[in-house]
Amino acid sequence: MTYLLALDQGTSSSRSIVFDAQGRIVAMAQREFRQIYPQPGWVEHDAQEIWDTQLATAREVLAKANLSAADLKGLGITNQRETTLVWNRKTGQPVYHAIVWQDRRAEPQCAALREQGHTGLVQRKTGLVIDAYFSGTKLQWILDHVPQAREQAERGELAFGTIDSWLIWQLTHGEVHVTDVSNAARTMLFNVHENRWDDELLALLRIPKSVLPQVHPSAHEFGVAAADHLGAPVLIGGIAGDQQSALFGQACFEAGMAKNTYGTGCFMLMHTGGRFQTSGNGLITTSAAQPTSTPQFALEGSVFIGGAVVQWLRDGLNAIKASGEVQGLAESVPDAGGVMFVPAFTGLGAPYWDAEARGAIVGLTRGSTVAHIARAALESIAFQSAALLQAMSRDAVAAGGAPVSELRVDGGACVNNLLMQFQADLLGIPVVRPKVIETTALGAAYLAGLTAGVYRGTADIGKNWQTERTFLPTMSRDRAEQLMTEWERAVRQACTR
Ligand code: G3P
Repeated sequence: MTYLLALDQGTSSSRSIVFDAQGRIVAMAQREFRQIYPQPGWVEHDAQEIWDTQLATAREVLAKANLSAADLKGLGITNQRETTLVWNRKTGQPVYHAIVWQDRRAEPQCAALREQGHTGLVQRKTGLVIDAYFSGTKLQWILDHVPQAREQAERGELAFGTIDSWLIWQLTHGEVHVTDVSNAARTMLFNVHENRWDDELLALLRIPKSVLPQVHPSAHEFGVAAADHLGAPVLIGGIAGDQQSALFGQACFEAGMAKNTYGTGCFMLMHTGGRFQTSGNGLITTSAAQPTSTPQFALEGSVFIGGAVVQWLRDGLNAIKASGEVQGLAESVPDAGGVMFVPAFTGLGAPYWDAEARGAIVGLTRGSTVAHIARAALESIAFQSAALLQAMSRDAVAAGGAPVSELRVDGGACVNNLLMQFQADLLGIPVVRPKVIETTALGAAYLAGLTAGVYRGTADIGKNWQTERTFLPTMSRDRAEQLMTEWERAVRQACTR
């Protein structure tokens, strides 16, 4: 039998999954770690905890699968993106906690860059908007605020990395300092057309080149995990940022293919093939996972509050005791009864981009109950995702392509049938749930499998992808359009602009 190991290092937990060559899950292990909030708007992780939990789950999953490391053809890494770490090359010690993607502290530098008129330059070279979300200004903050960091960096003593780089550094006992194009693309320092660090952007953000990892395609012999970690050496054959990894795991390899991951937030990506396409509708352009050195791109949009709205129903409103109760409560009414819930708790992302927007529940009547609010909360996940998909389709058509014709779904909340049916109804296209919904980890395993020769190419991988259930739209287009209009009206009430 052929086995591949995926290390899936996410924002709230480290997970490890063993897959067989057909992409089926053999075993899975997961450990949570601390979220550190030193000030409002700041989010940090302890890099040592990230490594410890990741290694522990990798050992645990092998034990659960009754396998040894020698049975693995290779391992792949997928990770929370943009989260930024700097460590000392000699001691291996981080100079500061990892600054998490959600952290907003670098906003003043971003505002300055925008005011200086660099928006166009950054978008042309990186596909990104200037925002504190990305790694570059977080790295700049560390170099500017941690005592001696900048001097040490100038002397070549420090290493910067996203979490993939940190894990490989650990796995190879500090021998290998690398990343892949899909992670590098999230730094705001990387020219995605030429797949190299960009001197002009490095100068703009005052980042010394010596701190940067080497960048490779997403399927590559990055290094070998030392034998003492898992019991035998293991080839590290794949790396991809988690959302691009999920696109790969969903076998979306061609222009026009799209996936949506329903987690705490939702991340929707549409492959655009070799074409760097900028959005006229508020999306960002990013490097897709690249099995070879040929650039491949995707359009991306994110919903900040997706499944997290269910947590709010539980913890904020006390409407349910456990998240799993939400479907029952929502299904106890035939529809939301005109109630619209805009969960703009932390502002609204694409395509609205209003950081100051705040949540709103509108359309309440004397007949409204907590069940209507629960249903509206669930539906808000689908409304926000539909707005993203409409933006993507508009961009695809503007570029001479066809609108998105099918949406592949994954992530924890995609098991909710009510939500998936409503999603299909709003979109008017099939929503397809695959048999394996752990597509983030699966993407990393596939990339490692390509490097290890388990697969000859993406065509081999595509054959593994299987539908578990297709949700076909049943609502009339008139009704769906009316609902989208009502949604947009509710969004305007939540927005500040
Ligand atoms: O861009 C942030 C994203 O990569 C985080 O994903 O799944 O760890 O919340 P997740």
